[in-house]
Amino acid sequence: MSDGGTGDFAQLLAIAVSRRAGLVERLRAEGTDCWRVFHGATEGLPGVAIDRFGALCMVQLFRAASADCDVSALVEATAGHDVGEAIVVVDRRRGPAHVVVHGDHADDEYIAREGGMRCLVRARHAGQDPWLFLDLRAARRALREIAPGRSVLNLFAYTCGAGVAAACAGAREVWNVDFSTNWLAIGARNAELNGVAACQRFLAEAALAVMRQLAGIPVGRRGKVPHHARIERRQFDVVVLDPPRLAHGSFGKIDLVGDYQSLFKPAWLSTAAGGTLIATNNVASVERDSWLRALERCAEKAGRPLRDVQVLAPDADFPSPDGRSPLKVALCQA
Ligand SMILES: C[S@@+](CC[C@H](N)C(=O)[O-])C[C@H]1O[C@@H](n2cnc3c(N)ncnc32)[C@H](O)[C@@H]1O
Repeated sequence: MSDGGTGDFAQLLAIAVSRRAGLVERLRAEGTDCWRVFHGATEGLPGVAIDRFGALCMVQLFRAASADCDVSALVEATAGHDVGEAIVVVDRRRGPAHVVVHGDHADDEYIAREGGMRCLVRARHAGQDPWLFLDLRAARRALREIAPGRSVLNLFAYTCGAGVAAACAGAREVWNVDFSTNWLAIGARNAELNGVAACQRFLAEAALAVMRQLAGIPVGRRGKVPHHARIERRQFDVVVLDPPRLAHGSFGKIDLVGDYQSLFKPAWLSTAAGGTLIATNNVASVERDSWLRALERCAEKAGRPLRDVQVLAPDADFPSPDGRSPLKVALCQA
């Protein structure tokens, strides 16, 4: 980014901030102090994203950002807005690692609030985002609405943002499943922070092994099954299926482009009649309607057609001018 480019950035940022004025007012009213301040991919500067998490402002430079990006000018422009006091700039242009190029607070823990829920966040850690995926906010909001009194299965739970949101809204029981004990440990701290640990279970297991057992589908071929916890067949009122794009595990591959069905089927069969499966797909190349058709076909083949599907897009802090957001969320009624 040349000097002229930085001036352009200040202007682009000012436009982005003013575009969000209405959204920010609504978010604050629902008890939320974290949002994407600038989404460069669709707001004029691909490769730059700015997220606010309460007092922490995280600026990320991705591979597509121009090589001569003037970080101090970018910080100066950002600091001119109400984005949080602690500005950290993370440079990912040379790979996924967090290279901190500005700010002293990259390793400090902060608390962000969403819909009244308190969430731990930290700019620098082993994963890729500061412990809370902001684009999933609309899905967590929908979850809060249906969770009261319900049992909830949160698959690929990460730091349990969805599970804790459901518990804060009054879910009676929540299972969080993720094979990473590190992420679940943050999730457990999030649950404690909100006083909702008692109704939560944290299962450090392969999600496929858990959901297949819940659904009554064999986990693997006899004699060749890797170790896993034994789980009784049962169903949950609400199931959250928010998997990574691609992962290899001992119980099968996770591939949101080539084979969403192998995740959807056991998750669907683990959803109680009258309940809801919240399924996501964040792969930009997967077109929304063809993904929905695949879900419908899969549900029918499993002998339980979808009763209804509602599709959610992320909130307006993740704008997609063509109306095609990479993240698609389907609320499937069982
Ligand atoms: C994109 S994150 C999910 C975000 C999360 N649903 C949320 O609400 O923030 C993907 C998560 O899946 C977990 N994961 C990947 N493969 C897995 C597998 N086979 N079984 C269980 N967890 C897995 C990772 O550890 C990571 O926490």
